[in-house]
Amino acid sequence: MKILVLKESKSNEKRVAITPLVAAQFIKQGYTCLVERNAGYDSNFDDESYKNEGCIIIDKTDGLQQADFVIRVNAPSAAEVSAMKSGTILISYIYHLFNPELVKQLAAQQISAFSMDAMPRISRAQSMDALSSQNNLAGYKAVILGADVMGKIFPLMMTAAGTIKPSKVLIFGAGVAGLQAVATAKRLGAVVEVTDVRPETKEQVESLGGKFIEVKGEGVKVEGGYAKEVSDDYLQKQKEAVNKSLAQADLVITTALVAGKKAPVLITEDQVKLMKLGSVIVDMAVEQGGNCELSELDKTVVKHGITIVGQSNLPSTLAQNASELYAKNIYNLLMHLSSKDGMKWEFEEEITKGTLITHQGKIIHPSLISAIA
Ligand code: NAI
Repeated sequence: MKILVLKESKSNEKRVAITPLVAAQFIKQGYTCLVERNAGYDSNFDDESYKNEGCIIIDKTDGLQQADFVIRVNAPSAAEVSAMKSGTILISYIYHLFNPELVKQLAAQQISAFSMDAMPRISRAQSMDALSSQNNLAGYKAVILGADVMGKIFPLMMTAAGTIKPSKVLIFGAGVAGLQAVATAKRLGAVVEVTDVRPETKEQVESLGGKFIEVKGEGVKVEGGYAKEVSDDYLQKQKEAVNKSLAQADLVITTALVAGKKAPVLITEDQVKLMKLGSVIVDMAVEQGGNCELSELDKTVVKHGITIVGQSNLPSTLAQNASELYAKNIYNLLMHLSSKDGMKWEFEEEITKGTLITHQGKIIHPSLISAIA
C-alpha cells in the first residue's frame, strides 16, 4: 500500500501531515511512503531526512497517480482531488459541514475521505484526535503571543527598585486549548481566572491552580463532547460575573466554541471599553467568527487602547511539534482502520462511522445525508 504525503498549499500553513519518524513506522508496517518534494521543509523536516527513513521523494502528479492513501493536514484542492485515482483513501481535515462542494467532488471522484476534524470525542479515539493535539499547542502559543504584546511581565518580581505585581490572565473556555493556556500562564507566574459553561471544568481549572468564575444558573449540556449553545439569559449572567475580572485583566484569552456554529460573542465592544489601557486580548476563536466583537482575522488591532490579536492557525506557528503530533494521530487512525490485509471497512464501528465522509461514490456521513446528498 502506498501512502502519499502532500505538501500543504494553504497560505500560512507550515505543518506537514507525516514526519520522517512516523513515515519510518509506516514503512516498518509494510507501507511504502511517497513524500511530495519539500513537503516537510517548513516544519524543519527536509527531503533528506525522509529519504534516510526509506521514503521516496516524488512530484505531486506522479504521487497522486500511484497513491492508495493521500494524507494531508488541510483539505485538498479541487485540482488535487481531480488528479486522484478512483478508490483513493484521503485523510485530512475536511470540515465537511462547511465544504459541501468539496464533499460532492470527493464522492463523484470515488474517493473514500476520512475527516480528522470529525473524530468522535471518546477515550478510545484520544490518540487519533488531531483537534486535541493541535489545540493543546495552540493554547500554549496564545499565552506566548499575549505575553509578547503586553507591556508587562507575568510573575511577581521583587527588585531593589520595587516589587512588580503578577499579571492577571482571564481565560474564556476551559477545553483543551483553554486548560493548556491556564497551565502555561501559571507556569509563567500569572494569576489566572477562567470561565466556562460546563460546570465540570471547575475542578479541572482548580487542579491547575486557576480560579473558576462561577455563573449563577444552569450550566450547559454536553453532546458528543461538545458544549451546546447557552441561552441569552445565561450569557448575560456570564457577562455580569466576568466583567469585574475583565476590568482587572492584563491578558484575556478566548477559546470558546460551540460545535457546528459561529463562536459565541463573549466580549462586546462595551466590555472592551471596561478593560485597562494596554491590556491584550488573544481571540483563538477568530476563525469561527471570534469571541470578541472587535477581533479581526489575521490582524492585530488596537481598539479603545486594547490590543486584540486575531491570528489564525496557531498550531502552524509551532509547525515542528504540531506536525509530530498530527502525524502520530494519523498513524494511530490508520492502524485502527487497516490491517496487514488492507482496510477493515467496519462501517458501524464508532470511529469509522464518525470520520468517513464519502465512500464508493456516495456521501455517507450521517450528518450530511439529509443536508446535501
Ligand atoms: P471546544 O473547542 O469545543 O470548546 C472550547 C471550550 O469552550 C469548551 O470547554 C466549551 O465548554 C467552552 N465554551 C463554549 N461556550 C462557552 C461560553 N459561552 N463561555 C465560556 N466557555 C464556553 O472544546 P474542546 O477543547 O475541544 O474540548 C471540550 C471537552 O471535550 C474537553 O473536556 C475535552 O477534554 C473533551 N475532549 C475529549 C476528547 C476525547 O475523549 N477523545 C477529544 C477532544 C476533547
